[in-house]
Amino acid sequence: MKAIIIDRYGKPDVLRFEEVDKPVPDDHEVLVRVRASSVNPYDWHYLTGLPKLFRPAFGVFRPKYRILGADLAGQVEAIGKDVTRVRPGDEVYGQTTAGTYAEYATVAEAELAPKPVNLTFEQAAAVPLAGFTALQAIRDQGKVQPGQKVLINGASGGVGTLAVQIARSFGAEVTGVCSTSNVDMVRSIGANHVIDYTRDDFTSSSQLYNLVLDNVGNRSLSEYRRILEPKGTYLACHGQPENRWLGPLWFLARMSVLSPFVGQKLTAFVAKPTTEDLHALTELIEAGTLTPVVDRAYPLREVPDAFRYLERWHARGKVVITI
Ligand SMILES: NC(=O)c1ccc[n+]([C@@H]2O[C@H](COP(=O)([O-])OP(=O)(O)OC[C@H]3O[C@@H](n4cnc5c(N)ncnc54)[C@H](OP(=O)(O)O)[C@@H]3O)[C@@H](O)[C@H]2O)c1
Repeated sequence: MKAIIIDRYGKPDVLRFEEVDKPVPDDHEVLVRVRASSVNPYDWHYLTGLPKLFRPAFGVFRPKYRILGADLAGQVEAIGKDVTRVRPGDEVYGQTTAGTYAEYATVAEAELAPKPVNLTFEQAAAVPLAGFTALQAIRDQGKVQPGQKVLINGASGGVGTLAVQIARSFGAEVTGVCSTSNVDMVRSIGANHVIDYTRDDFTSSSQLYNLVLDNVGNRSLSEYRRILEPKGTYLACHGQPENRWLGPLWFLARMSVLSPFVGQKLTAFVAKPTTEDLHALTELIEAGTLTPVVDRAYPLREVPDAFRYLERWHARGKVVITI
């Protein structure tokens, strides 16, 4: 099969488009013919090995996964003998560590759910990783209630475009922060208010928020706290890739030291893929409440170009890979 291979950290140029063996599913696995994937900042960290402090997780000397890619949407080709919930021919989607920049991937059954019936493979592949993040941020971390005010910094990116819609579905009054060219799009997906950060400084507004979901990490803690309700939550959901050694660690350390001494909750989280949440995302999508925004699609052999585009950090929704 064709796949994008990585054997050392670096820029997108280290990726190679090659012929490799088709994987064979074990008893608990599903062989998926991958029809689409997407690029996430998560995959970018595995490509670059940055921040370096996290190398034990990425692979100390070289990337631990030979094929990158976490999101997938595709068709079941074969199943192991203990697989019970899916059948060959089923259209599925999900998030996996198996590597999805390839024509086939072997995936644990629990990592898959039926593809939403109203989405194409490209749209479905835009959802899992960013969708888990947005859902768990709004529902579990932010505990958003109807009528609450939510500000989303980085509302126009992969996580932000889903978080705006999910927060609205929870009944929140949503303010999105983005650049000029994305203002109309962020409004069109449901934001009640949009702040163009090239014109206005959202941290100097007099409006207070119950939740600030921060997908960018470009302001100081005191600036974020200034716009939080006295019992509000600041939720850091960003990797700050410009710090090559520590990533967001210094910011997060200061936050956790300060948090116990203030009324506001200052916290960060790492989203976890779960079967239940994949079904919850499917429900929102099939009800018409959640629609992924796809910026652009690249064919498999152009995954390096997809990363070059992603690492400008101005994707408008999701960047997908068609296979
Ligand atoms: N904690 C977790 O579990 C988790 C999971 C997934 C992702 N993440 C992190 O969440 C962050 C966002 O991920 P993503 O997939 O949404 O990334 P993305 O698709 O690359 O989004 C980038 C967005 O950042 C916005 N942006 C850039 N500069 C900005 C600025 N100065 N002010 C406001 N917005 C700005 C861009 O908006 P404009 O083009 O409009 O400027 C763009 O829409 C990343 O740091 C990622 O590592 C964390």
